[in-house]
Amino acid sequence: MRILFIGDIIGQPGRRMVARHLKALVADQSAELVLANAENAAGGFGITPSVGEELFSLGIDLLTSGNHVWDKKEAEGYLAKEARVLRPANYPEEAPGTGVHILAKNGRMVGVVNIQGRAFLPAIDCPFKAADREVAQLRQVTDMILVDFHAEATAEKQAFGWYLDGRVSAVIGTHTHVQTADERILPGRTAYITDVGMTGPRDSVIGIRPEDAIQRFITQMPRKFTISDGPAHLCAVVVDLADDGRARSIMRLQVCDD
Ligand SMILES: [Fe+2]
Ligand SMILES: [Fe+2]
Repeated sequence: MRILFIGDIIGQPGRRMVARHLKALVADQSAELVLANAENAAGGFGITPSVGEELFSLGIDLLTSGNHVWDKKEAEGYLAKEARVLRPANYPEEAPGTGVHILAKNGRMVGVVNIQGRAFLPAIDCPFKAADREVAQLRQVTDMILVDFHAEATAEKQAFGWYLDGRVSAVIGTHTHVQTADERILPGRTAYITDVGMTGPRDSVIGIRPEDAIQRFITQMPRKFTISDGPAHLCAVVVDLADDGRARSIMRLQVCDD
């Protein structure tokens, strides 16, 4: 089973990259399943039903998210009814939606879990204990399990990868928007990368216009963030899983517009 995972899609520039390149990428990589993090897909912040449907129509099978998932009001109703859009599983149970979904593809079942870290992020439930709970349930159904770990701190992400090594097929980091060069197969045959990177404007500070970010740092005052324009890139990984759910390989990808 070959799975393509696309990093945080940022607004229209990110969605345009998916529209332009996804078909060829799927063919080139023989990808059987496409997952993407969409927490920034609507104007850079959050997700709406129309943006979600647009991404599904482009060929994405399931969307994960993270701390920005609630930024657009429509997300609450959308997540309550669309099981293919995940929010982190360790949000309070009162939050709409779910953090887990099982996809059936080519005669196999693939479980996907979305979990959020707590270092430099809201103090939601323990990601490690949430993972124990969700993974144990999924393993009753399938051994192919992918985890999107949406977190800020490298150390928390590495610890989480080691914690789940041998219990899941892959731990794929999202949220920092910069692709890390540490993809590997851990000893228990879990594929791991600290961050898959983002899909959106390349001449930016994690997606937003450099001048906005610079002014915010210099003045320490709130400032409206605008998504950058110019050339974009698409960051992703392809994981290849054996029939027993163990990872055979993980490969980083970056597709640039120019
Ligand atoms: Fe993000
Ligand atoms: Fe995030």
